Amino acid sequence: MNEAVQTSSEFAPRVFSGIQPSGGLTLGNYLGAMKRFVDTQNTGVQSIYCMVDQHAITVWQDPDKLRRATYELCAGYIASGLDPEKSILFNQSQVPEHAQLGWVFNCVARMGWMQRMTQWKDKAGKNQQNASLGLFAYPALMAADILVYHATHVPVGEDQKQHVELTRDIAAKFNHDYGVDFFPIAEPVIEGAATRVMSLRDGTKKMSKSDPSDASRINMTDDADTIAKKIRKAKTDPDALPSEAKGLEDRPEARNLVNIYAALAETSVDAVLAEVGGKQFSEFKPILSELAVSKLAPISTEMARLMEDTTEIDKILARGAEQARAIAQPILKETYKIVGMVGA
Ligand code: TRP
Repeated sequence: MNEAVQTSSEFAPRVFSGIQPSGGLTLGNYLGAMKRFVDTQNTGVQSIYCMVDQHAITVWQDPDKLRRATYELCAGYIASGLDPEKSILFNQSQVPEHAQLGWVFNCVARMGWMQRMTQWKDKAGKNQQNASLGLFAYPALMAADILVYHATHVPVGEDQKQHVELTRDIAAKFNHDYGVDFFPIAEPVIEGAATRVMSLRDGTKKMSKSDPSDASRINMTDDADTIAKKIRKAKTDPDALPSEAKGLEDRPEARNLVNIYAALAETSVDAVLAEVGGKQFSEFKPILSELAVSKLAPISTEMARLMEDTTEIDKILARGAEQARAIAQPILKETYKIVGMVGA
């Protein structure tokens, strides 16, 4: 056994998460992922964040757009406060161990498990015969992303919980079939309602980069004026704000704006309502707008700076890939040994 690799059931806590570079970062990505990642990084736990370009190509991606989206995602992470000195930040395709372990997991996962994945069913729809094989196998690659680092905690949105559960099944089957205790059973860390950001035009729909209306979302690249204008125009209802969270039930737009305020101010909905309860939206919106601009405009400015000349990003990613490989290589090597591959 390789000394560098942990093989007991006591795995050191290590966080891993991935985001697809599919373009169009919104306030939802910021609050639901990036800001959470930065907060986690600042607790001191080892954190590894990956831009999963190999996942992105499971559906068609224009090469120039994919490249740009990857740079933009990296710029978004850094502008949000992710510190490459504290976290490992890298691009999946620069660390071949993901795809290599992914192949082993393709041989561990069962067809039946994959066929049950709701995201596969939703994305492939009625046209499964025409979906890429990669789209079907994608959750096994996601398991490899996580387990090639022996990660123990995986912050994800609710929609990815099933894939983390599959990761646990793959780890358990591998450990069982080979009679080892090699891969940890990773825990999903699901985002709370507080960071689930809804559309500014319809509080029952998730804020989405693919909504045809740009006014429905705040983009991480929006400048101060655009942010202020979108908040001013956000849909509301005619009532004053309640003074307790209970009063937001059945008021999706009001709840969304208060949630956004609470998340940006890093406080609770109740604390916000204790201050603004009784106010009309005409009074609350300027307060929200001021906060949103003060938190988000510096991010878009920094993203624009980083995007102007991508050499800085290239350097960060090269270093991140090196750090990631230093962890992944011995784990892959040990996996190959366990499986019986000569030369490992
Ligand atoms: N599947 C995730 C998504 O679409 C992205 C992802 C890929 C991921 N690999 C991961 C998330 C590993 C967490 C851990 O959002």
